[in-house]
Amino acid sequence: MKKFIIANWKMMPRDAAHVREILVRTDEFLQGFQERTPMSLVFCPPFVFLDEVAGFLRQSHLLHDAELGAQDVAARDEGAATGEVSGSQLVASGVRYVIVGHSERRAMGEDDDAVNAKLKAALRNGLVPIVCVGEVSRDGEWEDMLRAQLRGTFRDSGSDDVSRCLIAYEPVWAISTTPGAKPDTPASAAQSAGLIREFLRSEFGSGDVRVLYGGSVKPDNAAGFLTDEAFNGVLVGGASVKPDDFAAIIRASVIT
Ligand code: PGA
Repeated sequence: MKKFIIANWKMMPRDAAHVREILVRTDEFLQGFQERTPMSLVFCPPFVFLDEVAGFLRQSHLLHDAELGAQDVAARDEGAATGEVSGSQLVASGVRYVIVGHSERRAMGEDDDAVNAKLKAALRNGLVPIVCVGEVSRDGEWEDMLRAQLRGTFRDSGSDDVSRCLIAYEPVWAISTTPGAKPDTPASAAQSAGLIREFLRSEFGSGDVRVLYGGSVKPDNAAGFLTDEAFNGVLVGGASVKPDDFAAIIRASVIT
């Protein structure tokens, strides 16, 4: 099964020089990396660096291994919407994937309806949505909260729509910037991945649901997620802008 390693750079690269440093060092690492498993790297930079990354991917070794993603997309396709970037503009910039519903954007006020509209915009424009879901804490009826979030996020979707998505299970309590964060374990996250697949199958009739894990994925725990059949890959935040850590995470995708 092909594994996705998705780099969510958030707002972290300082400037274009930092962007190039990450890409050059990842490229150098891949050139010497023999034991490949089927893998797809997706770099999701801030909008202002999309061109820089697209240009690098076209002329480097990463051409074979990496694709371009964005961190957000406008819900509508055109018109006056200051500060927004449309799906067709992303496609024209070489973008193939887009993160929707990240918990950091949900915390800024995006509710399930807003995420649903962005998910539909992504699909309408032929992008692959990376749909983030996850409970804020493990208090109370967290599994019901997760199901409700899935129901709202995917409202009015068909089984084909769901199959086109990558669904990132990202428990908010595990994301590295949450105070006191600790990563979920592969065994526990696999149960949540099972809940997600089961819910989407029963609610939307989707047979083929691709689930990633995200939340403090680091060199020391990446192999546990990447070699577990419950996951189609990982979504990496903080460690994805540290070239050595990111290379170690790629190395962890090799099943030994
Ligand atoms: P983290 O972020 O790897 O720094 O925990 C993951 C994410 O927020 O997508």
